[in-house]
Amino acid sequence: MTIGILKETQKGETRVAISPNIAKQLIDKDFRIIVEEDAGEKASFKNSDYRKVGAETHKHGVVYKESDILVKINPFDEDDLILVEKGQVLISQLFHKSHPELMKKIAETGVSAFSLDAMPRISRAQDMDVLSSQSNLAGYKAVIRGAYEMKKILPLMMTAAGTITPARVLVYGVGVAGLQAIATAKRLGAIVEATDIRPETKEQTESLGAKFIEVKNNGEETGGVYAKVASEDYARRQKEAVNESLFKADLVITTAMVPGRKSPVLITKEQVEQMKNGSVIIDLAATQGGNCELSKMNKEVIKNGVKIIGTTIAPESVSTNASELFGKNMLNFIMHLIKEGQFKWDLEDEITDETLIVHEGMVRQNGNLQAS
Ligand code: NAI
Repeated sequence: MTIGILKETQKGETRVAISPNIAKQLIDKDFRIIVEEDAGEKASFKNSDYRKVGAETHKHGVVYKESDILVKINPFDEDDLILVEKGQVLISQLFHKSHPELMKKIAETGVSAFSLDAMPRISRAQDMDVLSSQSNLAGYKAVIRGAYEMKKILPLMMTAAGTITPARVLVYGVGVAGLQAIATAKRLGAIVEATDIRPETKEQTESLGAKFIEVKNNGEETGGVYAKVASEDYARRQKEAVNESLFKADLVITTAMVPGRKSPVLITKEQVEQMKNGSVIIDLAATQGGNCELSKMNKEVIKNGVKIIGTTIAPESVSTNASELFGKNMLNFIMHLIKEGQFKWDLEDEITDETLIVHEGMVRQNGNLQAS
């Protein structure tokens, strides 16, 4: 079976879906790997790195023509769909809820397409979960970016000229990105606090040595694995509980999202006005509107001396590691789908069922397309 690794075309994208190291692991499992020329260049992988492990490098059209499975990070380009043929399988993050028209066009070609961003959040899917592997890196990089933007250092430092007190870091949202942000800020020596709507995150926060800011629960359901939209009353109680820490913080990292919804506004303009001069907010929820009312995607906003940076902290900024992890998720997913050189098409399997968005010319109604 031939797997074709395509070069990403999305502006700003620097990752590649499969690194040379992962390509080797697939070759060892009897796959033929063909890579579009320069596909790994922006992630620091040369064509020769792929060739060294036994992969071939080819032009765009050849990769499309000769592959049984085509892999990418971002959705497939509409213009390339004239190159695909019935029977081929496409795997990428399709973000199908946002691209229903593209799904129809993919279906018209007769191929099947899996979307990695539709991976169910179950234990056995953890090693295939690209959102999780990439968020982890984003949480780390958010702290590094914040530390760079701050006018202070993070750790306690005792010098002959005096003692520097540690910086205070506050993290909103203790999901994958939030947990890594907490761990990174702790490692760098900051005093770290965090809050989340899901009470089970208290233990996770404390296990990393940070303080959890608890918001009094009035019996509302907070969501299990995914958070639910918080009530206005919860938002008010959250502000009461967190404000003291927010106004003392040097760096605030916000990661709170509710899948498929606009991000909740957790820091209003009025709260920013009471924050410390020189403090920094890194808003990782900015793609979905932002947790800070003043955030603007990919822009820096300065309000009363507070710098607010709305960003995805693209895993692209650590493209070598991001590509390695994405590739490992991809390898695990492909191995899950295939048995003895053939796709199993096991629609009883939750992972296959939820990620298979287009099958045999049809956009599947697996619930994924119902909301946008
Ligand atoms: P996310 O990116 O959807 O949200 C980040 C965090 O923000 C969540 O912890 C959420 O509870 C919190 N949040 C949402 N609204 C909030 C509000 N109004 N106030 C405060 N906090 C708010 O979350 P992520 O990173 O996707 O992880 C969510 C959970 O899913 C985690 O427990 C994670 O370990 C789990 N997970 C499980 C996987 C699996 O089992 N295969 C894979 C990935 C994540």
